[in-house]
Amino acid sequence: MPKKSDYLIDRRQFVGGVVGIVGAIMSAAVGLPLVGYLVSPALEKAEGQEWIPLGTASALEPGVPALFTFSQLRQVGWKRTKINYAVYAIADDTGHVTVFSDDCTHLSCKVHWEPERGAFICPCHDGVFDREGNVVAGPPPRPLDRFEAKVEDGQLMILVEA
Ligand code: FES
Repeated sequence: MPKKSDYLIDRRQFVGGVVGIVGAIMSAAVGLPLVGYLVSPALEKAEGQEWIPLGTASALEPGVPALFTFSQLRQVGWKRTKINYAVYAIADDTGHVTVFSDDCTHLSCKVHWEPERGAFICPCHDGVFDREGNVVAGPPPRPLDRFEAKVEDGQLMILVEA
């Protein structure tokens, strides 16, 4: 038959248990906010959109794609990094401007405009797009992505993720 002392903890065990519980609570109180602080930048999503000026729209020659570049500060993990982008803008005879991404829709290699072929060429797998960004040849599954664009006070602007 078990003795009463077999079910009771002694004072040393009790104090050890209390110290352990208090230590765990204090560790959680300090540790959880610290973990949140360290992890949150990696989980943050950019919110909203912004209009980015590319340059003067009057520089566009109708029917001829022109290369524009812009930079954005982006949160990449814990670091704010300046990232450079390139886009192609083409104006039609009415002055309407279409702006394409230079990312190939196959595997995101950079396309470039070849005036002598009258096409955007992707050097990675010979993807070919016409001046409207439509796929002409190669593996790209869809046309070049387009940006919403407007001309304001003579400035060509595109809408991008902030
Ligand atoms: S990445 Fe452009 S064709 Fe493959």
